[in-house]
Amino acid sequence: MNRTVAIRCSLILCIVVALGLAFLGDTRSLVAAQGAGAAADAAKAWTPPDIATVPAGPLGDSIRLGQQVFNDTPKYAARYVGNKLSCTHCHVNGGTVAGGIPMVGLPGIFPMYRDREKEVVTFEERIEQCFQRSENGHRVPNNGPEMTALVAYSQWLSKDQVSGRAFPGRGMPPLPELNGDKERGAVIYVQQCQVCHGANGAGKPPEIPALWGPDSYNEGAGMYGIPKMAQFIRQNMPQTTPGTLTPQQAYDVAAYIHFMPHTPFDIKEHQ
Ligand code: HEC
Ligand code: HEC
Repeated sequence: MNRTVAIRCSLILCIVVALGLAFLGDTRSLVAAQGAGAAADAAKAWTPPDIATVPAGPLGDSIRLGQQVFNDTPKYAARYVGNKLSCTHCHVNGGTVAGGIPMVGLPGIFPMYRDREKEVVTFEERIEQCFQRSENGHRVPNNGPEMTALVAYSQWLSKDQVSGRAFPGRGMPPLPELNGDKERGAVIYVQQCQVCHGANGAGKPPEIPALWGPDSYNEGAGMYGIPKMAQFIRQNMPQTTPGTLTPQQAYDVAAYIHFMPHTPFDIKEHQ
């Protein structure tokens, strides 16, 4: 190995380690790697509260409606949805899984500054963005029953979390930035994904989500970015054996899916 290659390799190693550490804990409170490791274990060990324990009454009704909207969005928020995806198709298992973009702890860390919008966004506005882009739909009245229910549900999931501090399993574990090869990705897709998501990527809604085409997310969505989709796939797919793809394989299959047809996004049509 010549010197440049050796330096480049150790640099890559550093980046991988640094990214790994960043995921293990909220970087601001990352005092020692050991403490962060414990936080990641805590996230994995976290069990969601049981929906059966939600009390009767109007607040309980709203929390339960929130779970329904989350798990079957095209049915319970039909007016605001333009495809066949539900929140739970990307925010795995009702938004309760560490590394599966969970809702846990989010109400306590919004409002927050967002680089994409270059402004401070509220929790409701962030949810709305997923309606406009991931759901290929429309803005949701912030004081209407659906939005109130989604916030109530997320709040209830977060009832044992420390407000103001991110849940250690927030988002998805980062990956080093790689180049995906869609030809290699096509082979992986046929072997490991097609059985569920179909040769045409349409899935079998409502159980199995569409990955491209009119029933899937549009080009404004977070999942439309190859690095983000690769993170999701690496951590959460194939659904029955997650964690078995290498980061490179996750990038390859993400590139393949990315270059299949997705609905173009013009924000003016999504108000
Ligand atoms: C096609 C996949 C997809 C669907 C469907 C989807 N989202 Fe998202 N959502 C994402 C991605 C990707 C992100 C960005 C995650 C990241 O950057 O770590 C995100 C981020 C979010 C965030 C911010 C998370 C954080 O940690 O800051 C919220 C809140 C959210 N979504 C709510 C919803 C709700 C509610 C629904 C259903 C109405 C929904 N999403 C539907 C993919 C999706
Ligand atoms: C056993 C069935 C199954 C297999 C195999 C499978 N998936 Fe999924 N996939 C699902 C289900 C179900 C979801 C919804 C989230 C969940 O419940 O885990 C999903 C969600 C997704 C999503 C986010 C939702 C969306 O519409 O964008 C992506 C991306 C994805 N899968 C990609 C893949 C890739 C790539 C493979 C192959 C490496 C794969 N899946 C293999 C069942 C499967």
